[in-house]
This record gives sequence, structure tokens and C-alpha cells, in this order.
Amino acid sequence: MEFEKKILCIGAGYVGGPTMAMIAAKCPRYKVTVVDINPARIAAWNSDSLPIYEPGLDVLVQKTRGVNLFFSTAVEAGIRDADIIFVSVNTPTKTFGQGAGKAADLQFWEKTARQILAYSTADKIVVDKSTLPVRTAEAMERILNNNTKNVHFEVVSNPEFLAEGTAIADLENPDRVLIGSQETPTGLAARKAIVDIYSHWVRRDCILESNVWSAELSKLTANAFLAQRISSISPISALCEKTQADVVEVANAIGRDSRIGGKFLKAGVGFGGSCFKKDILNLVYICQSYGLTEVAEYWESVVKINGWQENRFIRTMLENMFNTVAGKRIALLGFAFKADTGDTRESPALVIARGLLEERAQVVITDPKALDNARQDLHAVKEDLSFEADPYCAAEGAHAVVLLTDWKLYQDLDYQRILRSMEHPAFLFDGRNLLDHKKLFELGFNVFAIGKAPLKHF
Ligand code: NAD
Ligand code: UGA
Repeated sequence: MEFEKKILCIGAGYVGGPTMAMIAAKCPRYKVTVVDINPARIAAWNSDSLPIYEPGLDVLVQKTRGVNLFFSTAVEAGIRDADIIFVSVNTPTKTFGQGAGKAADLQFWEKTARQILAYSTADKIVVDKSTLPVRTAEAMERILNNNTKNVHFEVVSNPEFLAEGTAIADLENPDRVLIGSQETPTGLAARKAIVDIYSHWVRRDCILESNVWSAELSKLTANAFLAQRISSISPISALCEKTQADVVEVANAIGRDSRIGGKFLKAGVGFGGSCFKKDILNLVYICQSYGLTEVAEYWESVVKINGWQENRFIRTMLENMFNTVAGKRIALLGFAFKADTGDTRESPALVIARGLLEERAQVVITDPKALDNARQDLHAVKEDLSFEADPYCAAEGAHAVVLLTDWKLYQDLDYQRILRSMEHPAFLFDGRNLLDHKKLFELGFNVFAIGKAPLKHF
């Protein structure tokens, strides 16, 4: 079949894979190829066991793979062939040199830009899908268009707003798609080409157009605002615990004000995930580099309070378990940073597991999808740590069960059976306010939730 357009995506990760699968499904006349430098990841995309767990993804990939969706390691051929190149490589926090710990590490992104330049033989549209510091598209333009090949590149910013666990639904029915370009004739033509892709399935009034800098900055700002809401409810949860107010009731009452809105007000162990912390710290670094000290401090406090909430949870456990967990078996229910994903990047569970191991607890981790990642994250740990697929086995002989990921399956466990197999007094710490605390207390657990009065038998 002769394809109308050839789209390439560089980076077959949590964003590149699902996004391209959706484009392939919705645009059958486009050929979509996803390339990556990681051969194991590409092999997994080409197998029955996809490299990431995302509800609905396997069905989408089965439908399109080999038809108009292809996964490959042939970066050079992919670039040469493509009309439009999406760049969806990782942009983690820099760990070295200037800006270490805050600035974005742009080495993967720059390498990609140079590969595009090296292998292109005709004009192309390059779409920044990765989350980047504001004004990075300008650097991309400079690298690409500073050439003697008589090839012109138009750089468009199309940041991605999907959330893991709901990626397929978010891609299929996005609140908005944002496309920013230069406002020159060639820039506007490139913008239109990207609008045309999404118009296959997204309502036209949900496709927002802007200048390229606004698109870049809107992505960082959206993540900062979402995280800020969690960092606003976290300290209120601490105040609730001191005053016998209930954070769920408070969140519900304030969320019913249409000016505030009810979403992203769930207090818990803190936010995790690969992006909130890195993107806010990136925003902080950008503000600092423009001399906007107060603005930088304001946003940095959103990250600081999140770390405080994670540590506060460990302190609550210690204080209530008679100030020692040394030698005590503690079962962590959930390790992913949220439900419906196997992703453990920046998961609060990592901080809590490490904190408990430092206190010499015997930590047992269970999770329906994240055990492989958990093993990798903690491979260097020498302390008493084990992994258990079955939550009942994890809880057997434990002094405490600690719910850290909001997997629905943890709501449906037989807690009577769990209680029977535990040491007594039996502690249950619900870091996500997911369970029926009154019922668990009545069964015999000592229950500690977030932002609620504890329910203790002693
Ligand atoms: P990821 O680490 O899962 O995937 C990135 C992939 O890029 C990796 O497989 C890596 O091997 C590949 N790569 C790196 N350099 C390459 C090169 N030169 N050539 C080919 N492949 C290369 O990352 P991700 O979670 O998909 O995130 C990608 C970007 O999207 C980041 O900027 C992130 O901030 C942003 N983002 C992520 C999410 C999310 O939910 N994960 C949501 C919105 C935006
Ligand atoms: C987030 C944003 O929601 C996406 O729009 C964005 O595209 C993405 O980051 C990104 O740039 O990577 P994600 O991190 O996948 O998506 O998941 P979220 O649903 O935002 O959850 C992030 C963390 O906040 C999780 O640990 C979650 O448990 C926690 N959370 C969320 C709360 O503690 N309370 C809430 O009310 C909501």
C-alpha cells in the first residue's frame, strides 16, 4: 500500500510507543515507525510482551503493528524516509556539572538532533514531543538549520499531556492537543501538518495553536500546577491529623467549589512519577537562570513539601510501632508510583522502602505489575528485602501492612485472612486512603490513614 505520509518517532518509551500506536490506529493512510537505540526495548515492542504495561495498549498495538505501525532500531533509515519526525526521547534531570539536580539533561535530545541532521536528505518537520525547557526549540532549529546540505527543518513543539495508567484514554480523548510553531509562513505550514494528524480524531476546538515558546512553557506549567495541588492538600492532611478534621471531607468540601474543582486533591504518600519533580525542578532552574529568585523558590517549595510528606509517613509508622521497626516484617502493598502502571520512577514507595530498610525492618514488596522494576530499583540493597507476587504471602507474619499504590485489587483483598496471618498488634497504614478504615478497625487492625484520626485498639 502506498502511504500518504511517513511519520517517525525517535524514542520508544512510555510516550513514544502509546502515542504512535494511537496515531497509527487513527490515521491508517500514514506509515508510523518508532525507533529506539535500545534493541531490547524494540524487541519487546515487537513481541507479545510489551515493554510497558498500560491498559488498552496491547489491543491497539496488535491492531496496527505490521500494518502501518513498525518498531525498529534502524534510526538512520527511519530518519531518511520520514516526512515528519517526532522526538520523544528522555529528558531526565541533570546529575552532573552546571545545574546538576535541577536542569534538564539534554544530551539525548541533542544527540537526536544531530542524528536527524546527519541522515536527512530532504526537508522535514521535527516535532518536539519530549518535555523541554522553554526556548529549546530554538536550539533545535539552530543545530538543524546550520547546514550546508540545502535541507530545511521546521521545528514544532507538541508537548504530551497523557498520564500513565490512562494513556490510551487520554490519547484517544484528550482535553486538548497543543501545537506551537514559529509564526512564519513555513512555521505555520508545519503547524498545519501536525494539526492535520490530530484532526483525524480530535475535535478541532480541542486542538490549540500557539507560538512555540508558549507551547514549551505550557507543558512545564501544567505539570507544576498539577503537582502544586497535591502539595497543597498534603500539608492540610498533616493539620487534619492534629485537629481530627478528615482530609477526604475537606477535599470534597473545597473541591465542590467550581472555582477550585475536585481533581488532584487526593492526599496520600506524595506524588511520584518520572515527570512532576523533574519538570518543576527544571522550571526552578530556568527561573533562577533568569534571576527570578522568588519565583524559583515558590515552585521549589512544591517539591520540598512532597519530600516532607513522604518522610512524615515513615515517621508516623515509627512513632506508632513503638519507635522501632528493627527486625519487624513489613509488607508494602504496591510499588508503582500510581495504579495501572508498572512504572516505579520516583515512586514514593522507593523512599518509604529505603527509609524502612535504614531502620532495619524486614521489607517485603508486592505489586501486580511493578515487581521487575522494583527489583531493578533496589538491586544494590544488601539489607533484609524480599519480593512476593502474592499479597497474602507478603503479609504473612508481618507486623504491619502498608498500602502504597492505589491498585483496585487491594480494596478487594480478604483482610480477615491477612489479619489472621499477621503478628499482633497488627498495624495497617493506608498511604492512599483507599480502604474502608472503620471496617478494618472493627476486624482488629490498628489503622492509620492520611489526614484522618488514627483508629487504635490501645
Ligand atoms: P522513556 O525513558 O520511557 O523513553 C525514552 C526512550 O528514548 C528510551 O527508550 C531511550 O532508549 C530512547 N532514546 C534516547 N536517546 C535516543 C536516541 N538518540 N535515539 C533513539 N532513541 C533514543 O521516556 P518517556 O517516559 O517516554 O518520556 C519521554 C519524554 O516525554 C520526556 O521528555 C518526558 O518528560 C515526556 N513525557 C512523559 C510522560 C510520561 O507519562 N512518561 C508524559 C508526558 C511527557
Ligand atoms: C502527569 C500528568 O498528570 C500528565 O498530564 C503529564 O503528561 C505527565 O505527568 C508527564 O508529563 O509525565 P503521571 O505522572 O503519569 O502524569 O500521573 P498522575 O496521574 O499525574 O499522578 C502523578 C502522581 O501524583 C502519582 O504518584 C499519583 O498517585 C499522585 N496523585 C495524583 C496524588 O497523590 N493525588 C492526586 O489527587 C492525584
